[in-house]
This record gives sequence, C-alpha cells and structure tokens, in this order.
Amino acid sequence: MILIENLTKRFGELVAVDALNLEIGTGEFFAFLGPNAAGKTTTIKTLVGLLKPTQGRAQLCGYDIQRDYLKAKTLLSYIPDAPFLYDKLTGAEFLDFVLNLYPSSNREKQMKMKDELLFQFGLDNHKYHLIENYSHGMRQKLVFAAALLHEPKVMIIDEPMVGLDPHSSRIVKDILKQKSRQGVTIFLSTHTLNVAEEIADRIGIIDKGRLIAVGTLEELKVSSGVHGKLEDVFLRLTEEES
Ligand SMILES: Nc1ncnc2c1ncn2[C@@H]1O[C@H](COP(=O)(O)OP(=O)(O)OP(=O)(O)O)[C@@H](O)[C@H]1O
Ligand SMILES: [Mg+2]
Repeated sequence: MILIENLTKRFGELVAVDALNLEIGTGEFFAFLGPNAAGKTTTIKTLVGLLKPTQGRAQLCGYDIQRDYLKAKTLLSYIPDAPFLYDKLTGAEFLDFVLNLYPSSNREKQMKMKDELLFQFGLDNHKYHLIENYSHGMRQKLVFAAALLHEPKVMIIDEPMVGLDPHSSRIVKDILKQKSRQGVTIFLSTHTLNVAEEIADRIGIIDKGRLIAVGTLEELKVSSGVHGKLEDVFLRLTEEES
C-alpha cells in the first residue's frame, strides 16, 4: 500500500531524509518514531506529495505520489502536525466543505457518515458552533473526522495525540485500530510511545534522516537487547546513534 524506495530529501547541505526504504502492507498500522528533527515530518510531507524528493520515490496504492498525484490523493488522508481549519465555519460546515472536495457516487451515505463521525468524536453538541470557539482537542478531533469522511485507503498522520485528553486520545486510538482492522493502512508519526506500543503492527525509528530500526516491538527488543518498555528500546537505539 505504501512503497518507499531510496527516498531522500535534502535542504541545502542538510540531508533530512537519507535513502529511506520501507514497504507497508494493506491494513498495517505502522508507527514512525524518532527524536526531534529526525526527519519524520519531512518524510511524511514527501510521502503525501507536498515536498518533492531529491532522490527516490514513494508510491501509495500503486500510484507514484509525484506522477499520479490526484489518483493517490483521492485514496489518501493526511493529517498534518499543525492542521489548518477555517475558524469562521461551524464544525458541520467544515465537514460539508471537505466532503465536497471529493468526488462521490453516494453522497447520502457520506452525509450519514458525517453524523456518525461527529457523534463518535463527541462533537455532536458542538457541530453548529464556530470552529474559532473550539478547544485544541475539539479541533484535533474535527480534523480526524474530516480525514475519515471520504473513506481513505491510506491514512498518513503526523503527531495526532498532542493535547488530547485521555478520553479523546482513547477515542482516536480506538477509531484508528478499528480502521486498521477494516483494511485501512496507517502510517503514524508520534512521540507518544504508548500509542505505538499498544496498536502498531510494526515500528520504524528514524534518527538524523536514517532509518535505524524497523520491526515489531518484539523484534526491536531483540535487536536492541533491551527487554523493557518501548521507551527504553527507543532511548537505547537513538542514544547509540548520537
Ligand atoms: N523547509 C525546510 N527547510 C530547511 N530545513 C528544513 C525544512 N524542513 C525541515 N527542515 C530540517 O530538516 C530536519 C528534519 O525536520 P523534520 O521536521 O522532518 O523533523 P521531525 O522528525 O518531524 O521533528 P519533530 O519531532 O520535532 O517534529 C530538521 O533539521 C529541520 O530543521
Ligand atoms: Mg515533525
């Protein structure tokens, strides 16, 4: 579903992403970890076509993100680390706006889906309020609802849990788990290690642009020689690279 080949992104002298290779299967939940400035957001922006790779390529659902951008985009959902919302729209209006960006053969089903998502994310009572009056967590949940509206095959998510309270974080985790079980491929970068620990099928760790480890949690424990929590494994692996 996601194929990354020799993906490299340079900013001048800096190699932000260095010859990254990864293959992520249908329905797989992949957690992408790494210290600050490791290259996670740059990888993600290149994956979704916002940045042009210096070298290499990325394919989503068989479509090259540079050459077949529109085809890839209809199947993809991207949640950036700092999402943009229109403050002067209500939550419901924003979701209508997003719905209208995508072609649909079944608008009625999507409208139903919109109501379900607003309910699932606990935004039902706020759907007619202006987004400018939403709290950080409410905005974050609205972005999630918007990302799920067109039933994406691949979700690429940059740091979703920041600022979510434990209830909201549980809602988001449960929905992502459910989507992954339904066959949606999820690529998620996060510093919230318990999310990776609880729900990822595989974990990749990037440091200074290079993928330094990839595998299941058990595999990472074996390769790092640390048999504790993911936090200990992460600290060991990234410290060795420093
Ligand atoms: N547009 C840009 N121009 C120049 N350098 C950039 C640009 N975007 C990112 N960088 C640099 O690339 C490196 C990787 O940044 P990136 O945002 O990918 O890190 P990250 O792993 O997402 O970090 P964080 O955990 O802090 O979000 C950093 O050194 C950053 O300064
Ligand atoms: Mg980042």
